[in-house]
Amino acid sequence: MAKITTAVLQKMKQQSDKITMLTAYDASFAKLFAEQGVEVLLIGDSLGMVLQGHGDTLPVTVNDIAYHTRAVRAGAPDAFVIADMPFMSYGTLEQALQSVVPLMQAGANMVKLEGGDFLLPTVKALTERGVPVCGHLGLTPQSVHIFGGYKVQGKTDTAADAMVAQAKALQDAGAQLLVLECIPTALAKRITEALSIPVIGIGAGNVTDGQVLVMHDLLGISSGYIPKFSKNYLAQTGEIRSAIAAYVSEVKSQTFPASEHSF
Ligand code: KIV
Ligand code: NA
Repeated sequence: MAKITTAVLQKMKQQSDKITMLTAYDASFAKLFAEQGVEVLLIGDSLGMVLQGHGDTLPVTVNDIAYHTRAVRAGAPDAFVIADMPFMSYGTLEQALQSVVPLMQAGANMVKLEGGDFLLPTVKALTERGVPVCGHLGLTPQSVHIFGGYKVQGKTDTAADAMVAQAKALQDAGAQLLVLECIPTALAKRITEALSIPVIGIGAGNVTDGQVLVMHDLLGISSGYIPKFSKNYLAQTGEIRSAIAAYVSEVKSQTFPASEHSF
């Protein structure tokens, strides 16, 4: 794989070449995913749930993300690596400026922050200082206690209009990528068309510029609750490399997510 950069991702959007992204937390899976053509690897704070066994993402620390970012970078030198900023590591602009240091030094190409308007000065400050930013709107899991559960967001006209405005504002502040989680497909389409930066969806239909899944969901590792928007590719293929290849192929052809994975 040629080295993936923000310029490559931008060009993929322009050419309607769908971007494939997966969470990764260690070198072995990172290498395997990159070998199957996954362009973007996310060290998600989902690791608090799938690696550490917590009920939500709030206990994750910057050092936890930095540790796993080092491992992922070692396994996939040419992948585009995004490190999640964990809960309250960017509560203020000053906290954000400190928190990104171990993440970028661990080998991240970009950091991801959850939220809209309150983050605009932070996104601007980070970008000006050389730290690329990915926004994250919709169901932002660090706010689960505000939402009162993991629920689809942006369902009313007012909420949808507000999310379109926030997405544009994040782009204007300097964000170079945006993740949309658990929103109606029609809203994801509006946002993807309104923005010039690539938009990656999870539970946002097949209309975005790319897709992301938590690797444990794709491989059917997480027991119990399986989100509606995810798909067990291991059950369908019986082999890890084939499962990843099938995910990449279905994202590229826009057959995943299908309507049964969408809202
Ligand atoms: O933490 C994570 O894995 C994420 C993705 C679900 C987008 O933020
Ligand atoms: Na996350």
